[in-house]
Amino acid sequence: MDAIDVIVAKRDGRELSGEQISWVVDAYTRGAIAEEQMASLAMAILLNGMTRPEIGRWTEAMIRSGSRMDWSGLDRPTTDKHSTGGVGDKITLPLAPLVAACGAYVPQLSGRGLGHSGGTLDKLESIPGWRASLSNDEMLGVLRAAGAVVCAAGDGLAPADKKLYALRDVTGTVESIPLIASSIMSKKIAEGTGALVLDVKVGSGAFMKDVEHARELARTMVDLGTDHGVTTVALLTAMDRPLGLAVGNALEVRESLEVLSGGGPSDVVELTVRLAREMLEAAGVTGRDPEDALKDGSAMDAWRRMIAAQGGDPDAALPEAAETLEVTAPASGVLSRLDAYGVGVAAWRLGAGRARKEDSVSAGAGVTLHAKPGDTVREGQPLMTLHADEAARFERALAALEGSYEVGEAADPGMLPLVVDRITA
Ligand code: URA
Repeated sequence: MDAIDVIVAKRDGRELSGEQISWVVDAYTRGAIAEEQMASLAMAILLNGMTRPEIGRWTEAMIRSGSRMDWSGLDRPTTDKHSTGGVGDKITLPLAPLVAACGAYVPQLSGRGLGHSGGTLDKLESIPGWRASLSNDEMLGVLRAAGAVVCAAGDGLAPADKKLYALRDVTGTVESIPLIASSIMSKKIAEGTGALVLDVKVGSGAFMKDVEHARELARTMVDLGTDHGVTTVALLTAMDRPLGLAVGNALEVRESLEVLSGGGPSDVVELTVRLAREMLEAAGVTGRDPEDALKDGSAMDAWRRMIAAQGGDPDAALPEAAETLEVTAPASGVLSRLDAYGVGVAAWRLGAGRARKEDSVSAGAGVTLHAKPGDTVREGQPLMTLHADEAARFERALAALEGSYEVGEAADPGMLPLVVDRITA
């Protein structure tokens, strides 16, 4: 087989065969196809798309490039959630222990943030002592001890995706629905979960800016999961404004602890409980309602066990940024708009995110919100507080926020509902 034939076939809009896909993914992983050839193929896929059979075969080839985890020895069903990423999306933190407290195992392989959207591992790493890298045996130990484990994917899991995602990142080929769907689902299927709930974000702070594309991504991923024997459901949820009131690593851990203590912002609580119910239903686990497990402290107990089992100190003080700056309301009225992307970029520039994979992040940096769209505000009232390790970062963060919020007479009628849609097999 020849890489040029495969590239030309996709360039000319033809469907690739199973043999072509298996060969090209395997050869690329082994280093037998040049980076520029794969970049060219990725661009042809972005421009011409892939059919459902092609996406299935591509995903299968990426799964087969590495190992597949197996949790069949556990005495309870496994279930997981994956979010396509957004601003202030800390839901995994309260959700994983909550679902564990309700009777399912949650084995979650998670990632770090890049650009304006945060990563779950970065958030958890703001807890002193907490360790993201675990061996398979350690992962099993944490699962048995706490019912939930959130850790980094090892090198053996879908290595084809690791290589391809890094290439897409620098060749303008991330925004392809077949490539995003196969990238996410190859890792989730290889992770070995029995059930999966996808939180597909839609809006300015998400990959998918409009509902139509988010629905197409969700449908593609639900079909992939179903075809591979994983019970898969997707929710489309709002990312036109930030989720909750905290954006930034330690700030989001603190907000998650409020949720686990029975409080927290209403949108974070509502989405956590909704996703927990979906995860339990998909796994066929009944008996305990997640709202009860938040109220009676059992979700918090599971959190403490999960953090301690990964070396973290659940009682340690969380890092705080040295400098803060308040942003005040320019007029009295209703906060009609608070753009997720603008707030995400501000938090990133304050030090909460990274521009390149090698960069480190600040644990204490970020943005705390004092009002959400629809809230009444008075001129001069604090709208948000910026947190950074160095005051020099404020200027560029303020520039990112310019035009990102508006005080008017009423909330924007185009604001998305928290849960926009539900996609099932
Ligand atoms: N997240 C992934 O894991 N892969 C993509 O392609 C996009 C987001």
